[in-house]
Amino acid sequence: MSEIEIIKQKIEEIIDPSSEKTLKETNGIKHVGIDENNSVIMIIEVNDKDNNFTKQITREIAKIVKLDLGYAGVKIEFTKRKLRNKKSKTLLIASGKGGVGKSTVTANLAYALMRMGKKVGIIDADIYGANMPKILHATNHVLMGDKDGKIYPFEKDNIQMVSTEYLVEEKRALMLRGPMLGKILKLFFEDTLWSEEIDYFLVDLPPGTGDVMMDLKNFSEEAKMVIVTTPQESAAHIAIKAGYAAKDLSQDVIGVIENMSYYEVNNEFHYIFGKDGGKKVADELLVELLATLPITNYEKIICDETDMCGIIYLNLAKKIIKLL
Ligand SMILES: Nc1ncnc2c1ncn2[C@@H]1O[C@H](COP(=O)(O)OP(=O)(O)O)[C@@H](O)[C@H]1O
Ligand SMILES: [Mg+2]
Repeated sequence: MSEIEIIKQKIEEIIDPSSEKTLKETNGIKHVGIDENNSVIMIIEVNDKDNNFTKQITREIAKIVKLDLGYAGVKIEFTKRKLRNKKSKTLLIASGKGGVGKSTVTANLAYALMRMGKKVGIIDADIYGANMPKILHATNHVLMGDKDGKIYPFEKDNIQMVSTEYLVEEKRALMLRGPMLGKILKLFFEDTLWSEEIDYFLVDLPPGTGDVMMDLKNFSEEAKMVIVTTPQESAAHIAIKAGYAAKDLSQDVIGVIENMSYYEVNNEFHYIFGKDGGKKVADELLVELLATLPITNYEKIICDETDMCGIIYLNLAKKIIKLL
């Protein structure tokens, strides 16, 4: 068990007086991190930020974190629970390696769902390589906030989107320490003024497994996950590892998508990167291989509705709707 998991486990039996339930029951522990001064940083969600309530929780957490576990300090940010649109579903798009087409698949899936009349919100949570703004031609967008610090998502073609790209200056790599991650996810999941109509949230994750995946559990407990891979042995191998790691974090993996599976000319299929990597990952994780996607022209990232790849994405979207 990691340090962070141990802290979580120790504090989850604390009663939140604003709901008279344990933090475990309310799923109130939204983030736990450790900063460079060996202080524990937390985000705790409560029904009511009444001073008496938050002080009581702070006391009990400090006792465990400082006295029992020996950390230098503890900083707690309290947030008020708000009712979320219950009908919307969340799909996490994960991969082992970077560059396998996670973002491309996310964007095309968003378009396929939109073409079926669904309202989609994309959360670009790939903090190390956010590129959804590029794909949707939205790099000039500037995030606007309202007076309460809530942000408005970018919207185009009836698809809404937020990206970590908007939180940093252009061309500057986003160097985030653990505690920042939870804050960004909180901003995107809870402090973004999404349309009430959103049917599906698609979350473009960073490659691999890690803090983001752990924190995600706190924001969308019901979310399901797909794993994107390419046919290569090396990509499949790492995708399997990521799949197992996701399962260890109790993420519900519903299928595998193989991207860049083949190149088609005149009805002839060329398996440039080899064959069956996706199938291998799906078999290993005991889930369905949901789609095998063609290599397409790099100038056209979003497939047209009537193109072969557009039709494949439509079928993929239908399958995913059933599985969510
Ligand atoms: N099916 C495909 N055919 C051709 N190029 C693709 C395909 N899928 C992705 N790409 C290209 O590969 C690169 C990596 O894709 P991207 O979606 O950014 O991967 P990831 O999000 O997994 O890092 C991009 O330049 C993208 O345009
Ligand atoms: Mg990406």
